[in-house]
Amino acid sequence: MDKIRIKGGIALNGVIPIGGSKNAGLPLMAASLLCSEPLILCNLPHLADITSMANLLGQHGVEMSLAEDLGQVANGGHCLKLDGSRITSTEAPYDLVRKMRASVLVLGPLLARCGEARVSLPGGCAIGARPVDLHIKGLEQMGAEIEIEQGYINAKAPRRLRGAEIVLPFPSVGATENLMMAATLAEGHTVLVNVAREPEIVDLADCLIAMGAEIAGAGTDRIIIQGKDRLHGATHRVIADRIETGTYMIAAGITGGDVVLTGTSLKLLTAVGKVMNQAGIEVTDVENGIRVRGSSGNGRPVIDGVDVMTEPFPGFPTDLQAQMMALMSVADGAAMITETIFENRFMHVPELCRMGANINVHGASAMVRGVKRLTGAPVMATDLRASVSLVLAGLAAEGETIVNRVYHLDRGYERLEAKLAACGAEIERIRAS
Ligand code: EPZ
Repeated sequence: MDKIRIKGGIALNGVIPIGGSKNAGLPLMAASLLCSEPLILCNLPHLADITSMANLLGQHGVEMSLAEDLGQVANGGHCLKLDGSRITSTEAPYDLVRKMRASVLVLGPLLARCGEARVSLPGGCAIGARPVDLHIKGLEQMGAEIEIEQGYINAKAPRRLRGAEIVLPFPSVGATENLMMAATLAEGHTVLVNVAREPEIVDLADCLIAMGAEIAGAGTDRIIIQGKDRLHGATHRVIADRIETGTYMIAAGITGGDVVLTGTSLKLLTAVGKVMNQAGIEVTDVENGIRVRGSSGNGRPVIDGVDVMTEPFPGFPTDLQAQMMALMSVADGAAMITETIFENRFMHVPELCRMGANINVHGASAMVRGVKRLTGAPVMATDLRASVSLVLAGLAAEGETIVNRVYHLDRGYERLEAKLAACGAEIERIRAS
């Protein structure tokens, strides 16, 4: 298995281009199941999770090809054409779903278009139990008949899904996406209440509208969808990845560097920008991006009173909690980080402590007392964001850090080493022989 070697202590300086959003791209790809004309997605990142979704859609019968030259729409980037004209299978098998939980996003589209779907239950994962009960209950309210059998969700809607008012007890991102996609082809209108407001939801709604769907309210806690008999093809550009953006903002901050992130926007990360500014790291809007200037010299970030609590958007994202903890580990002062979205998302704590961090976990909260320096060590983590937090810690640490299990990073960060090395980091991938 590949490893990443980092020699820490170098302030990052330069420009980092931000790619398209993984978590917007996955539901957008699933939306190709909703119509019999091609959907062209531009600015899709080249990541293992995107490949997993492509493999899943391929076995449903979606034909895919790369399109490069789409002029202005593509901005010269790579585009993927997804042609769902012939759905050959409505089953999402365990072997594909277990590799990536977002596979469950094919459930709503398949059921709405084909009247049936058989999707393996994803099961728990490293960060928590992560059930999909809200997806299932919402589809049942739209008239679907659903049974759980032998680890599979067997869903049927022989007489077409029908619009309904569905109140989510928690604003689940995935449930909002699945239900919104299903409602575009349901009979009548659907009102989704207490839904997720994440930018990825707005991006999906924009794409569905371009495909002919009638959707109002995306980005608020109430979405109204008027169902259509069919949708048509469209071309859509995926939004910038706000979690990749936030990760590199923290990389600049933790090393006391000066980095410009291009192709992204601070509007996607207001809560994160606020926390970093409070800690004395200068985060500003620039044309087509964000500039981050860490406290230079021996001026470490100051975190006294800068407590962080993860919350659904527009609150502080759970997907940046581990990275922010790495930053706080080397800051001046002490602060509390509370995780409210997932029940088991502190696996990075023992590894950060092995590098010299002073962190104590009490239930859903972690007390971080900043230390003057971390020291490099061999480390590993069991999920994507925890893994990248160790890379960030390694960039700030004295000496050499080896991050194992790099395949987690490949799920969500495209050309991570190259982007950091271009800003002066001493970082390299050691390929497994
Ligand atoms: C999305 O996951 C993201 N994944 C996650 O990113 C992100 O951490 C999460 O939203 C929260 O922002 C994708 O977009 C592909 P949820 P999702 O449904 O949709 C509970 C990353 O690192 N819940 O909003 O699965 C659930 O257990 C990943 O890129 C139920 O109880 O998140 C969790 O505690 C990790 N029942 C909470 O809600 C349900 O039916 C939030 O889950 C659904 C969710």
